[in-house]
Amino acid sequence: MISRRNWVIAGAAGIAGFAGGIAWWHGQKKVTNEVAPPFTPDAAFPNRLHVPGAQGLYGVHDVAGAFTLAAKSVKQEIIPGKSATLLAYEVESQGRRLLNPLIRLRSGGKINAKLWNGIDETSIIHWHGLRVDSNNDGHPHYSVAAGATYEYNFSVPNRAATYWYHPHPHHLTGKQVYLGLGGLFIVEDDEELALQKALDLKLGVTDIPLVLHDRHIDEQGQLVFAPTDDEKADGVLGSQVLVNWTPRPYFEASTRIYRFRLLNASNARLYKLAFRNGGQLLDFQLIGNDGGLIDNPRKIREVFLSPAERVDLLLDLRNVRVGEAITLTSVAFDPMEHEDGRPAMEKPGETAKPADSGTHGVHGNDANQDTGAAPLTPDTQVKSNIPGIGMAMELLRIHVRRQEGYDRAVPETLSRITPIAANCASPRVIYLDHVKMVWRINGETYQPEKTPITVKRSATEVWNIRNAETSMPHPFHIHGFQFQILERIGSPGQQKKLALNDKGLAASDLGWKDTVLVWPGETVCVVIDFAHPFNGDQVYMIHCHNLEHEDQGMMLNMKVEA
Ligand code: C2O
Ligand code: CU
Ligand code: CU
Repeated sequence: MISRRNWVIAGAAGIAGFAGGIAWWHGQKKVTNEVAPPFTPDAAFPNRLHVPGAQGLYGVHDVAGAFTLAAKSVKQEIIPGKSATLLAYEVESQGRRLLNPLIRLRSGGKINAKLWNGIDETSIIHWHGLRVDSNNDGHPHYSVAAGATYEYNFSVPNRAATYWYHPHPHHLTGKQVYLGLGGLFIVEDDEELALQKALDLKLGVTDIPLVLHDRHIDEQGQLVFAPTDDEKADGVLGSQVLVNWTPRPYFEASTRIYRFRLLNASNARLYKLAFRNGGQLLDFQLIGNDGGLIDNPRKIREVFLSPAERVDLLLDLRNVRVGEAITLTSVAFDPMEHEDGRPAMEKPGETAKPADSGTHGVHGNDANQDTGAAPLTPDTQVKSNIPGIGMAMELLRIHVRRQEGYDRAVPETLSRITPIAANCASPRVIYLDHVKMVWRINGETYQPEKTPITVKRSATEVWNIRNAETSMPHPFHIHGFQFQILERIGSPGQQKKLALNDKGLAASDLGWKDTVLVWPGETVCVVIDFAHPFNGDQVYMIHCHNLEHEDQGMMLNMKVEA
C-alpha cells in the first residue's frame, strides 16, 4: 500500500502515470521540500494528467535495436472507471508494454521497426516531420492490409525536436487517428541535452509533452467517430479536449521552470494557447517549433496551434504562490470559417450550452481576452454540445503545490538557425480553395497515380501558399522536408497582432517548420531546400492537416526528381 502522503508527493513530482506510476516511484529521488496540505483537485479538473512514464500509454521507448509496433485494438480507460476500446501501437520495450510509445533517440540514430497491422482495415505509419526516403515515409501508397506488416529502415538526420508518428492510409487517416493511433517521436542532440542540463529538465517530470485532441465520448466512456456530412467537409470536432488522453486534467507543479511540448493532434480543431492566472495571462517563452529549437527564446502570451503543429514552451512558475493554480487555456478567437462565403456572425459574449461533463471548461469571452469578440459561426449553435473552434476552453489546471529552490536561467541562445537565402518575388503558387465543399490544392484533389508537383533534387524553391478568401484556415503540411517561413501577407488582424517582425511572422513561425497555418485570404511565403541524401526519385506529398480535408483529397503527390 502507498500512503496518501506518498501518493501526493509522487504526483507532485509528476511521476505517476496510469497503472505503472506507483512502482516507478520507488526509483525516484526523495522530494524533501515541504508539501502543501492535502489538496482536493477542483471539480472542473478532477483527473491527474497522464504523463509519459515507464509503461503503458505514451511510455518512453528509448530506441536500441529493432522493435515492432503492433497496431491493434486495446482496452484503456479514458473516463476513469469506464473501460474504452482504443486503437494503439503496442510495443514491447525491455519487458514493458507500451501503448503509442514516446519514441526517443539521438539525432543520427537508426530506426529499424516493423509495423504489424492488427486492425481490421488497411494502414501505414507516417513519421511526421522526419527526413526519410519515400519507402520509409508512410505514403498511403504503401498501406498494408489487415494482418500484414511493413518494414521501416531509416536513419534520422533531423535536428532535436518533437516529431510524431501517425497512420496515413488514404480516406482513413482521420478515423484511425481519432480512434487512438499516434505517438510522439523525440529526437535529441547536443544542443538539446545542453538545454535540459541548463534548466534541469527531465522528461515526464519537468519536461512535459502535452498532446491535445478533442473527442466525443459517449455515456459508456467510448470514443464516438460518426462524422456527419458537414463534419466530413469541415473536420470532426469533439465535445471535450483530452490532454495526453486525460479528460479534464490537472498537474501538480512546484515553483520552477517547466517545459511543455505541445502537439495539436486534433483532427480539425485550432487552439490559441495561453496560460491564465485568475484574470491575467502570463508571459511564457517559446523556445522551439516543429523542427526544433529556435535561435533565442521569445517572450509571448498567446500562440496559435493548428493541427499537426508543435510548440515548445517554457513556463516560469517561480513567481506563482504555492496554492495558486494556472490554467492552460485556449483563448477565444475568430475561427474564420468562411467557406460558405458569409463572414462569421458577430456574437460576442456567447457561451457554450452548459450540459454534461463534456462541455466543462468552456467559457464565453473573458474580460482578459485582448482579441475582443469571438464571433461564433452559425454552425456552432447547431451542434450545441460541441464547442465551436475559437470558443474559449480551459485545457489543463496546473496547481502550484510546492516551493522549490530553483536557480537556473534560460540560455539566451538556444541554437543557430541559418536562414535560407531567398525572397518571395517569383514563387511557385500553391492555391487552396474549394468547389461544392470539396477542398482542393491548385484546383486538384488527390489522385494516387498523378504527381501534380515536381521539384528538382537540391533545388531551393519559394512557395506562396495562398488561401482563398472564401475558405477555412488550413494547416498546410509538406512531407520529407522542413521549411522556413519568409513572410505572411494579408494576414487577419488576430494573426497580425502576434507578429514579431515586419514580415508578419509570429514566434511560432520562426525556425524550422513542417506545417503552417494559412488563414482565409492569407498568403504564406515559405522557402524549401529540396536537398536530400537518397538515391533516385522520391515521392512525398503535400496536404492540409485537417484530417477530414486530407481524407477528402486535399492532398497531392510531390515528386523530388533525382
Ligand atoms: Cu502528419 Cu501526411 O502527415
Ligand atoms: Cu507528415
Ligand atoms: Cu484544410
